[in-house]
Amino acid sequence: MSKKLYIETLGCAMNVRDSEHIIAELNRDEEYVLSDDPSQADLIIINTCSVREKPVSKLFSEIGVFNKKKKEGARIGVCGCSASHLGGEIFKRAPEVDFVLGARNVSKITQAIKTPKYLSVDIDYDESSYAFAEFRNSVYKAFVNISIGCDKKCTYCIVPNTRGDEISIPAELIIKEARRAAQNGAKEIFLLGQNVNNYGKRFSQENHSKMDFSDLLREVSEIPEVQRIRFTSPHPLHMDDKFLQEFASNPKICKSMHMPLQSGSTRLLEKMKRGYTKEWFLDRALKLREMVPDASISTDIIVGFPGESDEDFEDTLDVMKRVRFEQIFSFKYSPRPLTKAAEFTNQVDPAIASQRLTLLQDEQEKILDEISKKHTDKVYEVYFEEKRSNGLIAGRSDNNALVQVQGDESCLGKIKSVKITNPKRLSLYGDILD
Ligand code: SAH
Ligand code: SF4
Ligand code: F3S
Repeated sequence: MSKKLYIETLGCAMNVRDSEHIIAELNRDEEYVLSDDPSQADLIIINTCSVREKPVSKLFSEIGVFNKKKKEGARIGVCGCSASHLGGEIFKRAPEVDFVLGARNVSKITQAIKTPKYLSVDIDYDESSYAFAEFRNSVYKAFVNISIGCDKKCTYCIVPNTRGDEISIPAELIIKEARRAAQNGAKEIFLLGQNVNNYGKRFSQENHSKMDFSDLLREVSEIPEVQRIRFTSPHPLHMDDKFLQEFASNPKICKSMHMPLQSGSTRLLEKMKRGYTKEWFLDRALKLREMVPDASISTDIIVGFPGESDEDFEDTLDVMKRVRFEQIFSFKYSPRPLTKAAEFTNQVDPAIASQRLTLLQDEQEKILDEISKKHTDKVYEVYFEEKRSNGLIAGRSDNNALVQVQGDESCLGKIKSVKITNPKRLSLYGDILD
């Protein structure tokens, strides 16, 4: 008889892919069916994120809730980035947890569920060539990891301590996985890594073909069944001309770029150890606008990093006004354990950080109101993936706008031309042309 699995996934796309790997590996030995009810599950897994404090502080109360709800004999596991950094501490604070599996130890899940109080959180463990079993949440698009870990060590960020050093996955494995997914119907391949455009700097073994990210993009695009390629996250420091050129000229690469700014102040960027200046960032973003005028640019911004002055914050607003990002993910700085910035003595008053966040978000809303008008009467290629509860069919345009139209389920899994008639800040509405 099949077992039921309840899995909650927090954090970034890498965690989403890790959860797919967990599900796939579990199914090697026995059949697991996904359930959205923890009280019915034989196995409850929380795949955690550590990037900011809030989700971590909620973790233990959540474990308590699951423990009360769970049926007799069900097991609870904590996986992912908080598992990596809290390790055995989790058993001490929550004895009801049965296993703790770090973000770089996913392949050991079948062992973890069989072993009492199993703990594996080694961030040097190398899964870069591990052949995971196959499971995907979506038939339409496929996440494909191209590297694990991160070498950057930005001073605010815990990720290098939860995912370890950066190792590129051999290109042969990436191409094989992308080809298989595309042949199974995933027209869109989403390449994942913490620094995708640093690809190829280090492999775990030397006998693989060497290539950089631009070459890898080209190779993936040569798979006939692949129609669209997306990737995240590229690092602004590694946005050289070759990369921008490949992005601009390769028709299979979707024209949306994530350019994580973090701060517009060169002084703060240095304290964050981001490796670029305000001028470099602006140069790259404006060059991209010139090369691909219809491209969308999204970004991540942190406000209230230690020592952030009004002038530093003004620099961030200045970059926003000049680049006019289509989407901003903005966060209040959250001091994280194991990071340099947490020890800086010039922490910003949280009330000032909150004010700045509100100001930044208000400014962005104004920019978005202006930007959204430019979509009127434009024709975009939209890949339809979802029927919404409002009865409309939804998908993403090449430049990553959410587009909704009247249509039926036969549109799902197809790329169609859509003329935008009613652009709103968060979604564009239009009509299918053919
Ligand atoms: N590798 C990616 C980012 C991964 S973390 C990159 O370099 O862009 C995702 C985002 O979380 C970061 O871009 C950053 O904006 C935010 N973040 C990371 N650490 C944070 C912290 N301590 N406080 C607030 N936001 C943080
Ligand atoms: Fe964190 Fe910086 Fe690495 Fe991104 S590049 S994961 S922000 S250390
Ligand atoms: Fe991702 Fe959160 Fe880990 S953003 S890398 S799941 S800390």
